Amino acid sequence: MLICPHCGAPLEQAGQALRCRNGHSYDIARSGYCNLLQSARSGEHTGDSREMVMARRQFLDRGYYEPLAQALCAQTVRLTQDRAAVRLVDAGCGEGYYTRRIADALHAAGKQLTAVGIDISKAATQYAAKRDHHTRYVTGSAYHMPIAGGCVDVLCSIFAPTPAQEFRRVLAPDGAVLCAVPGEEHLWELKCAVYDTPYRNREDKYHLDGFRLADRQKLTYAAHMDDPSDVQTLFAMTPYAHRTPRRGLERLHALRGLDVTLSFLLLTFVP
Ligand SMILES: C[S@@+](CC[C@H](N)C(=O)[O-])C[C@H]1O[C@@H](n2cnc3c(N)ncnc32)[C@H](O)[C@@H]1O
Ligand SMILES: [Zn+2]
Repeated sequence: MLICPHCGAPLEQAGQALRCRNGHSYDIARSGYCNLLQSARSGEHTGDSREMVMARRQFLDRGYYEPLAQALCAQTVRLTQDRAAVRLVDAGCGEGYYTRRIADALHAAGKQLTAVGIDISKAATQYAAKRDHHTRYVTGSAYHMPIAGGCVDVLCSIFAPTPAQEFRRVLAPDGAVLCAVPGEEHLWELKCAVYDTPYRNREDKYHLDGFRLADRQKLTYAAHMDDPSDVQTLFAMTPYAHRTPRRGLERLHALRGLDVTLSFLLLTFVP
């Protein structure tokens, strides 16, 4: 599935590198990840830092998002029930929490699996590769994936960018895109604690140009957090973490624990 980010020719593994027939070569790091990010398109090199990656990993390991992981696994297995072999890409895979779970579920379902995780953050792909030896993790952009056209059976985008045109390019004609996005009530109690006038997420804004929504599932449940650092990490994982006024942050840091609603939409799009 992987192609050379420089010339577009297929990449093959040769020792500890991925090489194309035109002599371009990309080292596979000891951790197992490979940097295929083409240099400097400004504004795109904004992946999460190592600290953010570690914090998110610790938080995810506590299991609050386990029901979502299970729902994603079930839907991926369902989408591939007629296939013996599956080519999976997780675009914006982060530190691979869901990638690894989905890959495990497909293995357990007896699929012959080729899996690639792509993230713009080097720290995230590095970390992912260390924990999952069955998936090839590469540093790259979801907007210019180092993936051959028309070859992906299931393309996951979990709280990550969804460039429709690029998704269309890499997807097989009978493939599917599986997106996870926040539901309307997601983190409602956390928002109420931090903001004077919290707003709900809009659920009607998710569409993918050139695709048809083939399936929509909603998953909502309550989580109890009694460790203040979990609450803070949860908040730091949200897109509004960077634009919250100081008063809100003070309220956040005063929270000793939280009962919070977690809510997700699982959207399956087909060409
Ligand atoms: C909210 S995180 C979700 C990570 C992972 N899917 C998860 O749910 O644990 C969003 C991820 O998208 C990545 N990202 C942001 N822009 C990207 C881009 N243009 N190409 C690839 N990854 C990107 C970030 O580095 C980050 O890891
Ligand atoms: Zn090349």
